[in-house]
Amino acid sequence: MLTDNEILEESRSFFELQIEENEVLNFQKVFRNGNPVHIEIGSGRGEFLIKIAQQNPNINFIGIDLKENRVKTIFRKLYKKKLKNVRIAKIYLNEETIKFLPPNSIEKIFLQHPDPWPKKRHFHRRIIQSEFIDILHKLLIKGGIVDIATDHEDYAFWILEHFMEKQDFIPIYKKGFTREADEGHIETYFEKKKREEGFEPYFMKYRSI
Ligand SMILES: C[S@@+](CC[C@H](N)C(=O)[O-])C[C@H]1O[C@@H](n2cnc3c(N)ncnc32)[C@H](O)[C@@H]1O
Repeated sequence: MLTDNEILEESRSFFELQIEENEVLNFQKVFRNGNPVHIEIGSGRGEFLIKIAQQNPNINFIGIDLKENRVKTIFRKLYKKKLKNVRIAKIYLNEETIKFLPPNSIEKIFLQHPDPWPKKRHFHRRIIQSEFIDILHKLLIKGGIVDIATDHEDYAFWILEHFMEKQDFIPIYKKGFTREADEGHIETYFEKKKREEGFEPYFMKYRSI
């Protein structure tokens, strides 16, 4: 029987995204096909990423998380799974580190329950900031989508306001958000936990124009 380390090593050898310093990825080389690419920022324990990748074998998915223990959990879950369309990157994503992704290359960007940083003095740590939205726009193809869920009301309105300032994104939902999950919606670990505490999510989608 393999040890945990051996399982992690084997899983990593296939699923870990290899990123060279100052290099921009070539998706054709990474996935050996020209299928559309979707990314998830803050994949946590990976339940969303794995399920959506299983449901969409003709889309390539990159899951990103900054925490080693979180990505390890995902590698363990991916072990022995025949998912050729998934790669994982352990990165603290910001305006600088995101540059390994080529401009105009991503069809969809998911942020499922990004950390809300509820205290005012920590607002600067929220991943959704004006400059970050501009970067997302650069990465997306024309018509590409940013898909966000949060159970945190104040963060939901922060996100809404920041996207409303932009001329190059249009909201999919009339009010800018909906409280109704799409059919077939994949519930994440965090979403389930927060629902049990009584916090229902806000869902937001923005199309890049
Ligand atoms: C609240 S958790 C949500 C996880 C998962 N999406 C879910 O809904 O269960 C936020 C996740 O985003 C990751 N994260 C936060 N900021 C990040 C950043 N700048 N770059 C990469 N990952 C980040 C955290 O490590 C954490 O796993």
